[in-house]
Amino acid sequence: MRDDEVIAELGMPLEARPSALPFDGPRTWWIGDGIVAWCASEARVRDELAGLARGAAHPLAPRVVAHTARAIALAASPDAPEDALEALVASAPREVRTIEATVRAHLEGIASPISVPRALARIVGRARTDRLLARTLRVTTRVGPILGGVHPAWLRRAEGGVASLSMRHAQHEGWSAIDLVAPEVFGLGALRDDDDDAAYDLALLAALAREATLARGDDAEDAAERARDVVDRLMPRDTARAVRVRVEAPAWLDTSRWRGDIPAAKARWALRELDGLPLGGEIVRVHVDPPLRAGRAAPPWRPRSERRRELFSRWDRGIQADDEGLFSATPEALADRIAEGAHGVVIDGTCGIGSIAIALARRPEVREVIAVDLDTSRLAMAAHNARIYDVASRIRFVHGDVHDVIARERADVLVLDPPWGGRDYDRARVVAEDLALDVRPLIATFEGAIVLKLPRSFDVRTLPPGFVTEPGVDARGGIKMLIVRRAAQRPRGA
Ligand SMILES: C[S@@+](CC[C@H](N)C(=O)[O-])C[C@H]1O[C@@H](n2cnc3c(N)ncnc32)[C@H](O)[C@@H]1O
Repeated sequence: MRDDEVIAELGMPLEARPSALPFDGPRTWWIGDGIVAWCASEARVRDELAGLARGAAHPLAPRVVAHTARAIALAASPDAPEDALEALVASAPREVRTIEATVRAHLEGIASPISVPRALARIVGRARTDRLLARTLRVTTRVGPILGGVHPAWLRRAEGGVASLSMRHAQHEGWSAIDLVAPEVFGLGALRDDDDDAAYDLALLAALAREATLARGDDAEDAAERARDVVDRLMPRDTARAVRVRVEAPAWLDTSRWRGDIPAAKARWALRELDGLPLGGEIVRVHVDPPLRAGRAAPPWRPRSERRRELFSRWDRGIQADDEGLFSATPEALADRIAEGAHGVVIDGTCGIGSIAIALARRPEVREVIAVDLDTSRLAMAAHNARIYDVASRIRFVHGDVHDVIARERADVLVLDPPWGGRDYDRARVVAEDLALDVRPLIATFEGAIVLKLPRSFDVRTLPPGFVTEPGVDARGGIKMLIVRRAAQRPRGA
């Protein structure tokens, strides 16, 4: 019987989503209105149901809404919004507990098929392992009941798919945290809530030690290197390993953070994020001595609501966006950076849903923003969004082509954020001809100051002289775009 036929027997409208995790867990999830379901072998389903029954009295227990011999459906949030999985995660109650103990005691609380201290001794040496194990750490963790099933709180969406996190190894007063870190171990996305999360780090350390012991070849070595990074994080700074780093990059990029003797973990970040990166028409190279492995990248997982609030801090007040507008919207912090230095009358020639126009209008030095877009519905959304930021009265919304607008309006500054070519824009090299709006004639005619927001792969060497480039860096240090400025050719009215 095919999995979809098994799920059909549950008798509920459910939509299939593939699971991206290469470890213990169903291949596919089915998600419906307030329901998450999956299927497996009869033995596994029996196991999970028995575990769910054992934990049924616990306040954190997921509720089984239906099951057959090969499938289980669990309740999600009762008001089940568009994304049932997110609703399920959000609705899960969490019991938070703070435990102060030695690293050794903490590690003993994490179920693992290997001896983590012995594995660590092989990876970082006995003396360092002993020092680490003796350290006292205060960690805050979420604890749950013994459940054979999947707990909603550990059900997260990882980059590229749905992450299922089995609780099969959970122990009553212990952690199932080793499964929580599995997506990071497999390079699918980090589910940590913040960078300074000792509970997560300990679980990650146990998982990497297991991987370094049980995996083979490159995978084992990779896990060992990353385990060393975690040990560096958990031990006092002065004992962290330092390596020597040299970066070849475009002259305008300040690389001082990554140059010289820096902690290995930071060097590994630079290797992953920067080495081989096409930036401004050149390729960045990171040289590390002694050589290090970059390790598999694990982008931090962040809930969608958080990502939206990074775009618009007032997202929850009813910001409007269409798919393209959302994809090309500038995160608020970067929009503020783009708006820096703007003054007088400013034309935002490609305003989309308004991120940059709003940032410009919030600057006291800016008298008026003329926000232009070819797309009427996006322009209406920008006007609505500007009202949410109380700056609509400082913006004149103009439906039309930016070429016509700069020909008839007088302005001090022109900001252009041309479409980059959709989600599949060329990450290797982009030049002006590739952009859906050719900025060259606009740059040539406009005499005021100019600010361009361009893809990081844009070859800035092809721009006319006088443009200065800076990287547009997000809150996690990643280079998301280029911000390119040119001063006014001559003062307005001269
Ligand atoms: C990358 S988006 C702008 C995103 C916006 N700056 C933000 O951060 O929210 C580009 C916008 O330029 C508009 N556009 C493209 N060609 C244009 C033109 N010739 N004149 C005016 N707008 C144009 C598109 O409709 C699209 O909304």
